[in-house]
Order: sequence, then C-alpha cells, then structure tokens
Amino acid sequence: MTDYFGYAGKTVVVTGAASGMGRALTEMLVDLGADVYALDRVEAPVAGVTKSIIANLGEQASIDAAFAEIPERIDAFFGIAGISGVHNTFLETITVNFISNKYVTDTYLVERVAAGGSISFVTSNGGLRWESPAVREELEPFVRGGDWDDLVRIATEYEAEFGSIPGSLGYILSKRLLNLFVAERVSPFADLRKIRVNAVLPAMTVSGMLSEFAEMKGGQDKVEAEVGPAGRLAESVDMAKVLAFLGSDLASYVSGSHVSVDYGMNSLQLAGLEPDRLSWTLRGVLSRQAA
Ligand SMILES: NC(=O)c1ccc[n+]([C@@H]2O[C@H](COP(=O)([O-])OP(=O)(O)OC[C@H]3O[C@@H](n4cnc5c(N)ncnc54)[C@H](O)[C@@H]3O)[C@@H](O)[C@H]2O)c1
Repeated sequence: MTDYFGYAGKTVVVTGAASGMGRALTEMLVDLGADVYALDRVEAPVAGVTKSIIANLGEQASIDAAFAEIPERIDAFFGIAGISGVHNTFLETITVNFISNKYVTDTYLVERVAAGGSISFVTSNGGLRWESPAVREELEPFVRGGDWDDLVRIATEYEAEFGSIPGSLGYILSKRLLNLFVAERVSPFADLRKIRVNAVLPAMTVSGMLSEFAEMKGGQDKVEAEVGPAGRLAESVDMAKVLAFLGSDLASYVSGSHVSVDYGMNSLQLAGLEPDRLSWTLRGVLSRQAA
C-alpha cells in the first residue's frame, strides 16, 4: 500500500489540539504515523502524541516557552486554536486569532519548517470577502504591522478609532486578516524552501466553540436554521479531513488556497443563488449599530 499522505515519521505541530477540530486532526495525524506536538492552553487528551505542550497563545512569552519544547525542524504546522470573541475583548480576540499566528509564522516557522513542508491555518467562512476592496482597505493598517508589540499597538489604536469594537466583530476582523496573511506569505515561503501556506474556512461546526456562536446568534435553533445544502452542521472531523489533506503530500501543488468547507454555501452566494450575507464592512456595521 502507498502512503499517499506521507505523514509517517514527520514532525507535525497542531495548535488548539485539546478540543474540536484540532483534537480531531491530532487523532488523525497520530493514526497516520506522525510525531505530533500538540499545543493548547490545556492538556490535549489524545493518546499517542509525542508531546502535549500547555501554552497561552495570547502571550508572547508563553509562545516562546512552547517553541523551546518543539523541534528545530517541523514538517507541517497547523494553526487551529482560536476564540470566538463572544466573551472576549477585541484586543484579546485579535491577539489569539491573528497576532499569535503571525508571530509564530514570522519568528519560528520561517526558520523551522522544512523544505517542501506546509503551513495551514483555520480561519473562518466568517472571514470571507477579505479580498474585496472595501474590506481589504479596513485590513490595511495591520498589513504594515511589524512585531508583536507593534501589532498590539495597531489593534489598540484601531479599536480607539471606532470607540470600541465587540470581540465578536474582532473575530471577523481577525479571520479576514489571517486569510489575507495566507495570501501574503505564499511567495515568500515558496521562495524560501517551497513551503506551502493554506487556509481552511469552516462553516458552523460542532465543537467547543459552538455554544458561544449559538449564544451570539440567539439560540441553537438559529444556528441549525442556517445549515444550507448539507442539511446538518459540520462536525470537527469534517474540517480535520481537509486539514490533513492540505498539510500532506497529496496537496503538493496547493498553496494560497482558501478552502471553504461549507458544503457550497459561499459558492451559492457568489453565484447570486443565495443573498450575499458576507460583503459588509466593519465600519458599516458599527455605524448602523450606533444609529
Ligand atoms: N466551531 C465553529 O463553528 C467554527 C467556525 C469557523 C471557524 N472556526 C475556527 O476553528 C478553529 C478551531 O476551533 P473549534 O471550533 O475546534 O473550537 P474549540 O473551542 O473546540 O477549540 C479551540 C481550541 O483552541 C484552544 N485555545 C483557545 N485559546 C487559546 C489560547 N489562548 N492558547 C492556546 N490554546 C487556545 C482551546 O483551548 C481549544 O482547545 C478556531 O480558530 C475557530 O475560530 C470554528
């Protein structure tokens, strides 16, 4: 039998490995023979991981301590951890969902991901339309950002300009930023060592986060009403399967892809077969809320 995935014996890092999509992927990668370094703010309950590292991705020093426990050579990195923003401030949400991933990429992955390796992030279908000019313009201040402190300063000033921004809108902004970041890093990582960079954009998924999204939308029934052609919510393992593909040898010519794992919901909106619910700007929403 041919091992088409090619994970056997490879060093793989998964953030958010203790729950939901990250846990489902970690289980799959262990099964496929990878040496998995599972990173989360709590212990990852997956038998067979090489190391479970407890770290807070909201703190630079904690990330640095975690990477001291991770090998110098990484074959595949999966940045999956995130927070919904429903019970978090704007700054906390931007920090965990975006600043930490940018910091990890520019500080550690640039040095450690092996030739031909891969970097995959979980963003969100909520972060779609990041490339449309009006939305892209709202992302611009962050594009010029440098190190951790600089990005925190930019995020703080960004929020101050709007008065204040709820964490749930920070979530959308953070996912749009991460989608743009994936596109920005395609050429530098191709030039560096032919490292591929991709994103998975999940639709609403059964995971630790679902109850917070349901709370935001006004109940589980509201979430269930928006399942689209699939007729069911996604399961964490539905996302893990696509992540396992993107990080593997099977995806050898796939970089800069933003894969909506939504059973066609975005495609229907792009084709005008369903109303476009995603082409809004932060400024537009906040000024409507203020009116
Ligand atoms: N569930 C959904 O409906 C949905 C939809 C779109 C995108 N997503 C994204 O999917 C990704 C995975 O989330 P999930 O749905 O599996 O939820 P989850 O809550 O089950 O898993 C998230 C994991 O991230 C970890 N984490 C959160 N903050 C952390 C921090 N500061 N440091 C270290 N670890 C931290 C949590 O401990 C948890 O194990 C997230 O990035 C999320 O934004 C989820």
